[in-house]
Amino acid sequence: MKFLLCLLLTSAGVECWHPDEDRVMNLRLSNLGLQGPVPSDIARQVPYLAYLNLSNNSFSGEIPVDISAITYLNVLNIQHNQLSGQIPGQLGVLARLTVFNVSDNLLSGPIPWSLQKFPASNFAGNQGLCGLPLDDCHGKRNWGMTTVLLHRINIESSIGAVVGFVAGFVVAVYCTVSPYLLHLSDFRA
Ligand SMILES: *[C@@H]1O[C@H](CO)[C@@H](O)[C@H](O)[C@H]1NC(C)=O
Ligand SMILES: *[C@@H]1O[C@H](CO)[C@@H](O)[C@H](O)[C@H]1NC(C)=O
Ligand SMILES: *[C@@H]1O[C@H](CO)[C@@H](O)[C@H](O)[C@H]1NC(C)=O
Repeated sequence: MKFLLCLLLTSAGVECWHPDEDRVMNLRLSNLGLQGPVPSDIARQVPYLAYLNLSNNSFSGEIPVDISAITYLNVLNIQHNQLSGQIPGQLGVLARLTVFNVSDNLLSGPIPWSLQKFPASNFAGNQGLCGLPLDDCHGKRNWGMTTVLLHRINIESSIGAVVGFVAGFVVAVYCTVSPYLLHLSDFRA
């Protein structure tokens, strides 16, 4: 079976074993009661991720801009957490992103133009979010001020960010090779 079982988030990060690949493709960490910020250098830790599912946890802080550097990301499920701040417009560079759900968080501000193609239900349950596909932003607060404030909070809490993400949790991480890479290994074999 073309299936990688790779295991255990430790405080050292994600480990993944396979004869000729050490790439984490899928990170399925939903429904685990995880809390703390999503690491601000997540793209450095898991650069080859295609699937990231952190839904139904208690992650807080902002959505890291760094997610936009995970080039092959197809699926980003971060619904049902306590993420706050604005949705980074940079996520629009993720050309392969087909599933994107941030519903049921504490997000605010305008929905970036590049993500307006996703349906309203994927943004629902965030009191401060506005703009297409939700209601327009007239009458909402001054988002510039909010950004500055959140940025400061973010710097102060960034020291413990990585540790907060992994420490104390023993988590099974399932890695499957993306169809694209499966293809390559078929050719190699
Ligand atoms: C969310 O996770 C909890 C366990 O932490 C689980 O009991 C619950 O069914 C999950 N909810 C959804 C919608 O998956
Ligand atoms: C992400 O996890 C949630 C909760 O387990 C699940 O309902 C959802 O289908 C998953 N998303 C994808 C794209 O598999
Ligand atoms: C996004 O997640 C919410 C749960 O928070 C769910 O109700 C909604 O159907 C999801 N959207 C899609 C397209 O799966």
